[in-house]
Amino acid sequence: MPESWATLGVDLHLEPTGSGGLRRGLTDALRDAVRTGRLAPGTRLPSSRSLATDLGIARNTVAEAYADLVAEGWLTARQGSGTRVAERAAVQPSRTARRTEAAPRPGAPARPAYSLLPGSPDLAAFPRAAWLKAARRALAIAPHDSLGYGDPRGRPELRTALAGYLARVRGVRTDPERVLITSGFTHALRIIGPVLAARGVRTVAVESYGLGVYRNLLQQAGLATPPLSYDELGTDPRELGEAGAALLTPAHQFPMGTSLHPDRRAAVVDWARRTGGLILEDDYDGEFRYDRQPVGALQGLDPDRVIYFGTASKSLAPGLRLGWMVLPPSLAQEAAAIKGTTDTVGVLEQLTLAEFLTSGAYDRHVRSSRLRYRRRRDALAEAVTARAPEVTVTGISAGLHAVLRLPPGLEQSVIQAATWQSLALHGLSLYRHPEAVAEQVDALVVGYATPPDSAWAGALEALCRVLP
Ligand SMILES: Cc1ncc(COP(=O)(O)O)c(C=O)c1O
Repeated sequence: MPESWATLGVDLHLEPTGSGGLRRGLTDALRDAVRTGRLAPGTRLPSSRSLATDLGIARNTVAEAYADLVAEGWLTARQGSGTRVAERAAVQPSRTARRTEAAPRPGAPARPAYSLLPGSPDLAAFPRAAWLKAARRALAIAPHDSLGYGDPRGRPELRTALAGYLARVRGVRTDPERVLITSGFTHALRIIGPVLAARGVRTVAVESYGLGVYRNLLQQAGLATPPLSYDELGTDPRELGEAGAALLTPAHQFPMGTSLHPDRRAAVVDWARRTGGLILEDDYDGEFRYDRQPVGALQGLDPDRVIYFGTASKSLAPGLRLGWMVLPPSLAQEAAAIKGTTDTVGVLEQLTLAEFLTSGAYDRHVRSSRLRYRRRRDALAEAVTARAPEVTVTGISAGLHAVLRLPPGLEQSVIQAATWQSLALHGLSLYRHPEAVAEQVDALVVGYATPPDSAWAGALEALCRVLP
């Protein structure tokens, strides 16, 4: 083992092996690293002095190994530019690497040309310049201790910025102490499931339509997830009964697109107060309301009974993996303890989002996105009404998707026709709770925010072609 590590140069993991002496062992290890692609063409190797220090061997041994590999053509050595992996050292992926690559399988369908799958904003419209500006500033002013493990709830800068933003925009009542940063809603559910189970909750009632992955996460914590009925007023809270909690999307039901009727909002809160139940409010696209002011968060009606969940996956990009929870005082500590300090979100992303919020860039981005998506929504509604009069466009007052109701029995054939048009499309049946009692509705869930601008017109045209 080396006694000390060189402080200059790059790190290089090598394990000189074999019984042919140090020089031979090192030469073999380096050659192998180049041949297998671990050292890419052009990579600058550490100086012989620093590698010798790292490996605890004589500098001459390293210099000789480098010279051998230069002679063999694996490395190049030039005055002033050091020793590098030769550009022509062709990297052959190993057999195992080749097998695990995502190469198209023979006969596998090609990637669709267009996607109207729900769940994503237009990733091409991510505000790169503004995000970069926020990231630079955030890093420049970050205190040294922000780079430590820190508070399990997340950086105070972001919790403070979110508490202010959510109060202003969504009517959420909180202080930064009760905000917990997560890597998205999925992560938040993974934290909250065990918190609920530890409090003796056995059942979390869910909506008749929703994402199975969320039900599964709750089930993994030992919770039952029976469906609540759904009608034109939204989810019916009368069946909540003995459930310990309910998972709802009150502002914009996912995927049906309705907002919970005011009477039902009141009834849900009433149920929670009466029974001690908890409401898990998934406010996944609360910023995107088009026809009037957004319906405020349910949390504002009773911060002691509602756990509020938000995400940057719709307003910015799902790949950021940034979300947040606002917890009732009685749960804040437990949730932070379950989350811990290592199961967290990178601090630079957190600080960047904090800066993005406080500088006003988030508001600007949401406002301009809202305008773009609203135009797309209008174009979608207009095109479908004109070209497919048997189809009804619903759920469009908010969000990034619409539900297109089809004549009975046509969902699967339209999805099949979309595949032939190279259009990725989801039917509503994918989102139906397996035990839902509501009448089966044939419909499409159309994510109109998903395509980049360049593909939007083509995607809309492909959609219109497959509609009855
Ligand atoms: C209903 C609903 N809630 C929440 C989310 C956000 O999930 P996450 O924050 O894990 O990306 C989505 C994303 O598609 C969603 O459809």
